[in-house]
Amino acid sequence: MKINLAVLPGDGIGPEIVAQAMKTVKAVCKKFGHQLTYEYAVTGAAAIDQTGDPYPAETHDLCMKADAVLFGAIGDPKYDNNPKAPVRPEQGLLRMRKQLGLFANIRPVETFPSLLHKSPLRRELVEGADFVCIRELTGGIYFGEKGRKDNGNTAFDTCTYTRAEIERIVRLGYEFAGKRNKKLTVVDKANVLESSRLWREVAQELAPAYPEVTTEFMFVDNAAMQIIQWPKNFDVLVTENMFGDILTDEASVITGSLGLLPSASIGIHTSVFEPIHGSYPQAAGKDIANPVATILSAAMMFEYAFNLPTEGKIIRDAVNASLSAGYVTVDIAEGEARKTSEVGDWIAGWIENN
Ligand code: IPM
Ligand code: MG
Repeated sequence: MKINLAVLPGDGIGPEIVAQAMKTVKAVCKKFGHQLTYEYAVTGAAAIDQTGDPYPAETHDLCMKADAVLFGAIGDPKYDNNPKAPVRPEQGLLRMRKQLGLFANIRPVETFPSLLHKSPLRRELVEGADFVCIRELTGGIYFGEKGRKDNGNTAFDTCTYTRAEIERIVRLGYEFAGKRNKKLTVVDKANVLESSRLWREVAQELAPAYPEVTTEFMFVDNAAMQIIQWPKNFDVLVTENMFGDILTDEASVITGSLGLLPSASIGIHTSVFEPIHGSYPQAAGKDIANPVATILSAAMMFEYAFNLPTEGKIIRDAVNASLSAGYVTVDIAEGEARKTSEVGDWIAGWIENN
């Protein structure tokens, strides 16, 4: 099949980890006879430096024309401590999500048998934990009305959701749960927030249409606690944008490293595949960052964007083989730590030879 990608490395470690994912993608396409074409484009701080805009129109056009987008990370410390910066790299990511209509961010949280001892949680708590967080991605407080008043001395951000926005994401949650272990946890703060009460109302209305799925409602503070205490109790979680942002960073530590978790953002236009971690600027250019989350994002790309599960599986198998062999980066190494590029070469090589 013809596969045309937009490749957006972004900032910090982005270019290094995306380079490893591209080695993997090329190895898979060669092995299975797919015709791969791809083009690189700038986003984030790199794009601000070059064009003044963190998500330039040319980058958006390229994404719209592509079959899928492989994305690295966005963010640069020079903006983090400057709340007055007129443009920020993160605005590029948010605009990309909005303009591509990526209303659902799918973040699977799986443990790796060979890494259980790396988790800060006890083995018996995490062994077999396997759930999916579905985060609403184009609404809520990230995109609501915001501003300053009283000469800048009062600031506000508004969390707004429409029934239609809630319905489409909760439906997706039910569809995922229906294909998995048939349990959907709707995470909200309905004891305090009006927007959460609408979430709950909509979910309660939809529930009867999915009789095979058990619906559970959980306040977000309680969910934050339960994810760490009983991660195995979850199957599919669905939640609004900011709750999902926070809970998925929390959930990632269950696996032992933030460098392992991939994500898919899907919606109206081209889907985007990206690791859940950030741009890790301290490691940029050092060839030490873990490329696995981005490589697994490429696996999700074959599965979700191209409906090619065998191609996705060989990437997962190759990653598992590298973890079992201890051929890993410094964040999870027991013995000798390998470089980012060495791990990428090893995984691509495994795909060629298996
Ligand atoms: C994420 C990130 C982004 C977010 C930042 C970089 C804007 O934390 O993808 O989880 O908050 O959505
Ligand atoms: Mg985040």
